Amino acid sequence: MRILKTLLAASLAAFSLAAAAQSTWPDHPIALVVPFAAGGPTDVVARMIAIPMSKSLGQTVAVENAVGAGGTIAATKVARAKPDGYTIFLHHMGMSTAPALYKKLQFDPLKDFEYIGQVVDVPMTLLARKDFPAENFAELRDYLKTNGNKVSLANAGLGAVSHLCGLLFMSQMGVELTTVPFSGTGPAMNALLGKQVDLLCDQTTQTVPLIKSGRVKVFGVTVPNRLEVLPDVPTLDEQGLKGFEVKVWHGMYAPKGTPPQVIEKLNAALKVAMQDPDVKRRLTELSSDIAPMDKISPQGLKTQLESEINRWGPVIRKAGVYAD
Ligand code: MLT
Repeated sequence: MRILKTLLAASLAAFSLAAAAQSTWPDHPIALVVPFAAGGPTDVVARMIAIPMSKSLGQTVAVENAVGAGGTIAATKVARAKPDGYTIFLHHMGMSTAPALYKKLQFDPLKDFEYIGQVVDVPMTLLARKDFPAENFAELRDYLKTNGNKVSLANAGLGAVSHLCGLLFMSQMGVELTTVPFSGTGPAMNALLGKQVDLLCDQTTQTVPLIKSGRVKVFGVTVPNRLEVLPDVPTLDEQGLKGFEVKVWHGMYAPKGTPPQVIEKLNAALKVAMQDPDVKRRLTELSSDIAPMDKISPQGLKTQLESEINRWGPVIRKAGVYAD
């Protein structure tokens, strides 16, 4: 009996400590882990939403870049982090392609995370260095036919959307280019601007200002319709790459076991951030669509992730692309 009483008292104490911790959460800064390098598209979105999230949570949300292996190093780090609400994660659709791409994945996207909500959907653009010897898509096609073996295509590693977009491009064009991986498309873009690589497929959250200022050449957008902010840039589909479509969805996660009350507060802060007028204006300028409100929810993200894992798994296995 005495043992029972002691056990009961101990579990009550643990319960009230946990409850107290949840009611005071957050009482110190929160790390928002980003799986790619600073300055790139995921980092741009993270830093944009960290400001209003910090305001509504009353604590700094500090972006932390944990790069490598197409985003899987950061995902593993977050999956193993303490589930106390002080580590959260912004990743894109790489969460859904990783299980098929990596044979020895150290995390399970469907078992190791709590879902906070979907964030934003971003189109991509196919770019070349400014002095690339082709002025339009037709010239690019001709050039690649005869010089493809000399052309380099940058990406952010296996599982990055720049990699996926590059694979689709090469397969639809019937060419094999030399791929050059970076820790994110931030550094890949620096290499393009520095003329160290030839081509890059990258998200509009990074590319729109560079296209508008003429610092890079653009050959097309990866969605079925032209973008309002780049009306003169044709789609890849309309230039002959029929059905070419990549739009990059993003989600926010926390380690499995993060208390539901904390997830609720994080979700509320994310919703506030996505309605912030400055965030809305900047995302619109960068041709990015804020996720519909019902999808900025744990269930919205879970459903999206499950359906995307089912969509990409067979495609990737059929293509036979993977890391050992
Ligand atoms: C980044 O943030 O660097 C990109 O999202 C990487 C990628 O192409 O997936």
